[in-house]
Amino acid sequence: MKKSPIEIFSDWVDDGKDDGMEINHSSAVSVMLNKVLNITNDYSFIDAGCGNGWVVRKVSKNSNCLKAIGIDGSKRMIEKAKSLDTINNYYCNELSTWKPSEKVEIVHSMEVLYYFKNPLIVIKNIYDNWLKENGKFIMGIDFYFENKPTHNWPEKTNVSIMTLLTVKQWEGLFIKAGFKNIETSRSGEKNDWKGTLIIMASKN
Ligand SMILES: C[S@@+](CC[C@H](N)C(=O)[O-])C[C@H]1O[C@@H](n2cnc3c(N)ncnc32)[C@H](O)[C@@H]1O
Repeated sequence: MKKSPIEIFSDWVDDGKDDGMEINHSSAVSVMLNKVLNITNDYSFIDAGCGNGWVVRKVSKNSNCLKAIGIDGSKRMIEKAKSLDTINNYYCNELSTWKPSEKVEIVHSMEVLYYFKNPLIVIKNIYDNWLKENGKFIMGIDFYFENKPTHNWPEKTNVSIMTLLTVKQWEGLFIKAGFKNIETSRSGEKNDWKGTLIIMASKN
């Protein structure tokens, strides 16, 4: 029987596989953070689908980061994040409906948005309810149509919801949500592996 993404990732905490995500995602995330944090102003930051919170802990160490927040639907991921970090705030909630109490300048999300039947709902929620007018959103995903070696992931991982879209379709969702200045790039391309698809966009 297939399991929901949140059930699968809760199991991963029990198996310690969440630590592997930091190792596997860190080079693409470094590229993403260099792009989006390339500002001199102070900012507040949300990691959408933060897992065990490793990106929140990393970003919160930057001197112009005023506030860093992690949100994830897995109770076990959030418990682990809180056990490792008593300074920053972590919330266990559903990304398509949750709203922060205050909007932020930067939203980041790594390897999360295809775990939704309709990712537009989450992208629109981020646009409408999470970002300030000068805000930016950056997402990274490895599971997309052009990256053929990932096509067997739904069978391999037993996850019930994995939405496979082309680069153009992902860009289309950002446009539909209202985002401007959409910049698409890839990180870590090697042979058949097309790399992490990175889309960065601004609210205005
Ligand atoms: C592949 S992990 C990535 C975690 C983290 N971004 C990282 O790079 O280590 C995907 C995360 O998305 C979360 N997730 C999946 N669907 C979700 C939903 N509907 N609401 C909130 N979180 C969700 C999972 O619990 C999991 O922690």
